[in-house]
Amino acid sequence: MIRYLTAGESHGPELIGIVEGLPAGLPLKSEEIGMHLARRQQGYGRGGRMAFEKDAPEFVAGVRFGKTMGSPVAMKLPNRAFSKDKDGWPEVMAPEGSGEGVDPITIPRPGHADLAGAQKYGFDDIRPVIERSSARETAVRVACCATSRIFLKQFGIEIGGHVLRIGAHGYESWDQVRRETDRFIEKGAESLFRKADESEVRCLNDDLSYRMIEEIKVQRKKGSSLGGVYEIVVTGLPVGLGTYAQWDRKLEGLLAQAVMSTQAMKGVEVGLGFESGSRPGHDVHDEIIYKDTFKRKTNRAGGLEGGITTGMPLIIRGVMKPIPTMLTPLDTVDLHTKETVATRYERSDVCALPRAVVVVENVIAPVLANAFLEKFGGDSLEEIKRHYNQHAS
Ligand SMILES: Cc1cc2nc3c(=O)[nH]c(=O)nc-3n(C[C@H](O)[C@H](O)[C@H](O)COP(=O)(O)O)c2cc1C
Repeated sequence: MIRYLTAGESHGPELIGIVEGLPAGLPLKSEEIGMHLARRQQGYGRGGRMAFEKDAPEFVAGVRFGKTMGSPVAMKLPNRAFSKDKDGWPEVMAPEGSGEGVDPITIPRPGHADLAGAQKYGFDDIRPVIERSSARETAVRVACCATSRIFLKQFGIEIGGHVLRIGAHGYESWDQVRRETDRFIEKGAESLFRKADESEVRCLNDDLSYRMIEEIKVQRKKGSSLGGVYEIVVTGLPVGLGTYAQWDRKLEGLLAQAVMSTQAMKGVEVGLGFESGSRPGHDVHDEIIYKDTFKRKTNRAGGLEGGITTGMPLIIRGVMKPIPTMLTPLDTVDLHTKETVATRYERSDVCALPRAVVVVENVIAPVLANAFLEKFGGDSLEEIKRHYNQHAS
């Protein structure tokens, strides 16, 4: 089974990822991973940092002549801020030495891991918390998870995401979203993300995109921030991944864990999700039909029933809270003096949702790849393809 670990701090020398369990013979190109990393860096509402952080992964183990070897794949992403010696990061984040002369950060930001992290680990300087809990880690997470996405694509499984709401502006209903997305989903989820990528806020609807951007401008002026709601679609999944047989193997539970472990995510839905609580059963459940194979007339279940894929597109949604670092301060308390002070500001996004969509597209990939391997597994890509083709025929 595939598992991965990340290491690295936002302003340390580099980020490191190790992915174990990829089959041998999987073609892996750093450009394809780099494409998703570049997408993660694009979107209206960005802060300054992204301008100088152009991410490109470097494989350092597990890949030979462009293919995996069945051994752990290791990769690194340098933090350019560190290597450029900009703002003194090599001193602030020096792996060795005493740290003498480096000012501690003592003002925790509400909504960040700052205070809870410092209390938990007994720090009198919040810097270590900020460095590891911040969303810079999502860069290497995307890189690790994109390898699973590349694996899934070998079997025609595509993933694509788009933004549904930023602040007050968004789609009004599930049905409105379906009308807008169905034609892309029919062509495969990649066509969905390619279309969404044409919008600076990754929204398929031009009018909504415009309004979302205007709202970001307003909140930027106010020194505040915004979150929102997004949807991720996966097409090409075969029937029968996941199971109802044991709680910890139900696919929606595993997907929710992957989504909710992403920084700033505060909720997740499958298919109609929360909207199903306000509809009668006949407007929720998908009627079954037979046309060459079993199908559903609608897909409000979002491609999962009983924790198992139905063969319909997987549709999951998530909500991201507004960015905690804001130009207009909030009240907080200095860790050392215990006095009420205003929050400090570090370069930060106003709305990171368009970029977060790319993160979530990728973090669900290992979950799906593992469900796929559980059913069709093997040690090499060739062997898995044999198993898969046998099942399909
Ligand atoms: C792609 C992405 C970018 C983010 N950018 C920022 C940012 O620029 N400034 C900030 O304060 N928080 C940002 N966040 C959110 C924080 O990382 C997150 O709120 C914080 O780590 C606390 O974790 P929690 O919200 O999961 O509790 C970002 C999150 C994501 C997913």
